Amino acid sequence: MNPESITEVIRNRRTVKPAQMSGTRIDRAVLDQILCNANWAPTHGMTQPWRFRVFENDSRADLAKFLAATYKSITPADSFKQAKYESFAVNPTLAGAVIAVGMKRQESGKISELDEIMAVACAVQNMHLTARAYGLGGFWSTNAAATSDQMREFVGLGSQDRALGLFYLGHINGQWPSSTRSEIADKVTWA
Ligand SMILES: Cc1cc2nc3c(=O)[nH]c(=O)nc-3n(C[C@H](O)[C@H](O)[C@H](O)COP(=O)(O)O)c2cc1C
Repeated sequence: MNPESITEVIRNRRTVKPAQMSGTRIDRAVLDQILCNANWAPTHGMTQPWRFRVFENDSRADLAKFLAATYKSITPADSFKQAKYESFAVNPTLAGAVIAVGMKRQESGKISELDEIMAVACAVQNMHLTARAYGLGGFWSTNAAATSDQMREFVGLGSQDRALGLFYLGHINGQWPSSTRSEIADKVTWA
């Protein structure tokens, strides 16, 4: 293995919003690879709690409609924003595919919910890094509608499970974005 390869993928992974995506189809073989790599995330007790529902082609429009309607139904009138509603109504169709991210709760509840959510986050990072390696942008969106009980039901998850947002995947229009981080030294103490 070459440590430089993993560093290159990690440092160049970027959040790319739907507005910067072309909406063109993503190869099924590439989607399969992204999902298979998600499946190799670490998992406490081997529960493998990640669940994914993939929206591509026409189903993206169904998702968009549902997302906008859910935003409207759960947002108090005084904080409702028409522009937000309109972007929810179109965003999924701007991506090549949208993957609804879910956490399936272990029946016994032996493994903590926190651990299960952290495992799903590891799976999402695997997807995002794999997407980057294929030259695709990704965006993990966790707004109230995307993580609502309505979304949980829409994607077929049970009452003990959690909807953990939408992962947008797409070919990117224009320049690959840049990002910054403050110094790691400010976030680490050595004992
Ligand atoms: C758990 C999680 C949830 C996120 N949810 C949102 C979101 O709802 N809206 C958003 O604009 N970005 C969201 N992001 C993406 C961050 O905005 C993004 O990672 C950050 O701007 C840094 O950009 P980069 O990913 O290109 O390094 C989320 C990221 C994580 C890890």
